[in-house]
Amino acid sequence: MSIERFPEGHSPSPSSSPETLCAGGGPRGRDGDPLVFPIVQSTSFARDGLDSRAEFAYSRVGNPTVTALERTLGELEEAPPAVAFATGLAAETALLLAVLRTGDHVVCGRAVYGGTTRLLQRLLAGLGIETSFVDATDATAIESALCARTRLVFLETPANPTLVLSDIAAAARDARRAGALLAVDNTFQTAVLQRPLELGADVSVYSTTKFVEGHSAALGGALVSRDPGLLERLSFVRKSTGAIQTPFNAWLTLQGLRTLPLRLRRQSESAAYVARQLAVRPEVARVHYPTLLTGAQAELARRQHRGAHGAVLSFELRGGAAAARALPTRVRLCRLAEHVGSVETLLTHSASMTHADVPPDERRQAGVSDGLLRLSVGLEDPEEILRDLVQALPASVGEEAPCAATR
Ligand SMILES: Cc1ncc(COP(=O)(O)O)c(C=O)c1O
Repeated sequence: MSIERFPEGHSPSPSSSPETLCAGGGPRGRDGDPLVFPIVQSTSFARDGLDSRAEFAYSRVGNPTVTALERTLGELEEAPPAVAFATGLAAETALLLAVLRTGDHVVCGRAVYGGTTRLLQRLLAGLGIETSFVDATDATAIESALCARTRLVFLETPANPTLVLSDIAAAARDARRAGALLAVDNTFQTAVLQRPLELGADVSVYSTTKFVEGHSAALGGALVSRDPGLLERLSFVRKSTGAIQTPFNAWLTLQGLRTLPLRLRRQSESAAYVARQLAVRPEVARVHYPTLLTGAQAELARRQHRGAHGAVLSFELRGGAAAARALPTRVRLCRLAEHVGSVETLLTHSASMTHADVPPDERRQAGVSDGLLRLSVGLEDPEEILRDLVQALPASVGEEAPCAATR
């Protein structure tokens, strides 16, 4: 079997609209081919002879179903096929191994996924790679941290879980001037709501486990770039470390991708509504969501995001850590889980879950207080999501039950 059987997959897609690209579910087949791209569940591919130039040989190096996903993810950012990995962290590890050597330096936003911080601090530091963590909302902080040894700037915007924004275009200019690459973790927005490569980044980083797959069914990661040399190095690291996506998970991810634009726009609308309503609750000290930003951050949200701001928000309770730990035990619809991006609404206590391995001082510096809860808004009725959260609030701060909020 070869992906050559799907010849139109090789020609440029007839559309660059994310809705159309995603709905296709992978390369278009020809007469008699299945509408749903098949799962090619085979470790190896037969060859006619030693001179065979067949596209696939062994599924640790490449597989037709994985390639179908990679093509679609690349097309979404007008880039060559992505490189897909078993998980988001496997993708990040491959990126770091592809671009860094002992003695190199990384500039990383302070408010990134806790696993990214752990990877840099606990593993890369041991290989002699130093990281400076900076407030990436401040472009001058990034610029001042760059030095002759800096090879990579790594940002996550909106930041996790504080939802503050970094200026991708400014960071790209500064990184390029310093001879470093810029990588942007675009897991929360996906290419539907933000295009890092268009803004000057060298690599878009994805945990496809989150919004791209969208149904809490398959782990995955991907790196998208327009730099053929970098893509080649990333594929080489993947082949050498064995971190490729599995055919079944690639297939599940392709199915999830079909509805990504629809899900993300609807979930973003609901998130904006829930954020607005939580912001006026007396039990809530602060809500973090791009529509609530002001000044330069609000301007950045308008410039960088494509018509919506994503499905993730976070909020801090006046009752602090005790209240934040109690609320998840009282919700009936929202679920407590170390996850975002699915069709169901998920709550995370960042300090004890995603950021548990980040030292408390650094956690606080990154804005992750013990009273902060992250909410990934799903596809349920937004009114019911809000009602569930509101009924869970009073016990956490010992107040009377409030009236249900109205839209
Ligand atoms: C923003 C972000 N990037 C990367 C990752 C790592 O992805 P994975 O869990 O697929 O390894 C996560 C996981 O939660 C994440 O939220």
